[in-house]
Amino acid sequence: MAARADRLVKRFGGFAAVDGVSFEIADGAIFGFLGANGAGKTTTIRMMCGLLAPTAGTLSVAGVDVAADPEAVRRRIGYMSQLFSLYPELPVEENLRFFGGIYGLRGAGLDARISEVLHDLDMAGLRDRPAGSLPLGFKQRLALASAALHRPEIIFLDEPTSGVDPISRMKFWRYITRLAKHEGMTVVVSTHFLHEAEYCDYILLMNAGRVVAEGTPAGLRTGIGVRIFETGPAPPGALPAVRRVACVRDAYAWGRAMRLAVDEGTDAAALGRDLRAAGVDAGGISEVPPSLEDVFIRHYKQ
Ligand SMILES: Nc1ncnc2c1ncn2[C@@H]1O[C@H](COP(=O)(O)OP(=O)(O)O)[C@@H](O)[C@H]1O
Ligand SMILES: [Mg+2]
Repeated sequence: MAARADRLVKRFGGFAAVDGVSFEIADGAIFGFLGANGAGKTTTIRMMCGLLAPTAGTLSVAGVDVAADPEAVRRRIGYMSQLFSLYPELPVEENLRFFGGIYGLRGAGLDARISEVLHDLDMAGLRDRPAGSLPLGFKQRLALASAALHRPEIIFLDEPTSGVDPISRMKFWRYITRLAKHEGMTVVVSTHFLHEAEYCDYILLMNAGRVVAEGTPAGLRTGIGVRIFETGPAPPGALPAVRRVACVRDAYAWGRAMRLAVDEGTDAAALGRDLRAAGVDAGGISEVPPSLEDVFIRHYKQ
């Protein structure tokens, strides 16, 4: 077990930023904290990294009780914070040398590891570039490389893809997967992008300091208690009418179409009849597998 939290709490004054969160993280997993801003992701990660003392609950990371020995935890992990600061005037390679040095890497081992991470992140040609002159996507890749350089048992990545372009985001996830599957690291990552949950082996969905849902991406899709249908292009103003239909639990715009969460006992034919009776002409209706967005919308509403 890479980490375990039991009824973890963090209060700032009277306010509980993390309010009784429990989880287990398997060795080698890509474990995702998912949630909107303010959900408590960063606070949880900072406690796990031994940077912030929990108010209550127990927490062990890499086999170490974090409250008892935060320093031991910090040596065994890598941490890419949301506000990661590189040395902007130093070249890419020197930034990596600096972080490698902190963790005791030197000599030929450090040289080889720097070459390896730069190659894996498609940054081999950027060694001599001042870090500050890189586009944001490459700065984030460099920050990730710095956190992974010493091959920690567990690497924590706090919203590593925020503000990053789609190509860099894809590269990022490819590298994260590589760290877990080829280098044997446990990856703990937070994101507010719901679709990024797909890259995780296990997801903890947080809201206002609590866990509102958890599971594998496949597991979360089952048992949400509704069937999901997509309509054709909908006329303006159709959504409010659709929401008044008895079997419809939820409806939202999906491009020009609508996406409907409907009682489990309702099939496409019955739904079509109900919509027509409500005066809504929404073209062809087809059932679709629930996306993680559908899952999370259901959980947030409950
Ligand atoms: N040092 C602090 N003092 C007071 N409130 C804080 C502090 N850090 C975070 N918070 C509050 O705790 C809540 C959770 O914050 P955070 O863990 O950063 O969430 P997330 O990373 O999911 O956006 C937010 O409401 C935030 O304003
Ligand atoms: Mg955060």
